[in-house]
Amino acid sequence: MSRPLPSSVRLGVNIDHVATIRNARGGAHPDPVRAARQASESGADGITAHLREDRRHITDSDIDRLMAEIDLPLNLEMAATPEMLEIALRHKPHAVCLVPEKREERTTEGGLDVAAGHNHIAPYVRQLGEAGCRVSLFIEPDPVQIAVAEAMGAAVVELHTGAYCEAALEGDAAKQQRLLERMIEASQIAHERGLEVHAGHGLTYDTVKPIAAIAEIAELNIGHFLIGEAIFRGLRESVETMRGLILEARS
Ligand code: PXP
Repeated sequence: MSRPLPSSVRLGVNIDHVATIRNARGGAHPDPVRAARQASESGADGITAHLREDRRHITDSDIDRLMAEIDLPLNLEMAATPEMLEIALRHKPHAVCLVPEKREERTTEGGLDVAAGHNHIAPYVRQLGEAGCRVSLFIEPDPVQIAVAEAMGAAVVELHTGAYCEAALEGDAAKQQRLLERMIEASQIAHERGLEVHAGHGLTYDTVKPIAAIAEIAELNIGHFLIGEAIFRGLRESVETMRGLILEARS
């Protein structure tokens, strides 16, 4: 018997780039925790934050405060390193999403290669799962990566939408359509394997609807565009508009 599809799509708002702006000057303004609070009031279902090894945006004290002050579930994105594992096990956030991380990259440029990195990553999935965190693996929409994620015991896969969004930026409609079909197939495969399906990276008002319309997807994590758009319309409206587009896509 096939598993029931998720009844709706949750929106996780990634507040990393509020911290990017704060860190450009030091000090405390703008405060990513205040942004998380406002995202919560504007219909976000969760808050996502990536504690990077170089602390270029979110810092350790931001994580302390997000855990203490925000009621929404926290999805902590992190690399599979001993330092990050220690931090995650200390806080036990609702979810941990393991992501690849290179110091020289501007953002998370591709999915985690869980097939090649199996022996390194599997103990992280096990320990975080045993601590009660919902473990997610940020991977490319690829059947082999999905099969390995399942075999490792991850609860969730987050499918990387970067290539699909990149094709939209290039104005290559045929490529965008091909990559959308790849996302649809991967979502179906992951759902059939019993994994919860999330997606994210690079999503905007122009690219979100076809992804949100994929029936197997349970959560979208969106950051950079929402924080950028908040400059023009305020964070509340930025999040509410995204929420509205997701709802429209799924109705
Ligand atoms: N999902 C994951 C796993 C990510 O690493 C990121 C970027 O930190 C996002 C979603 C959000 O991407 P963007 O900021 O481009 O919306």
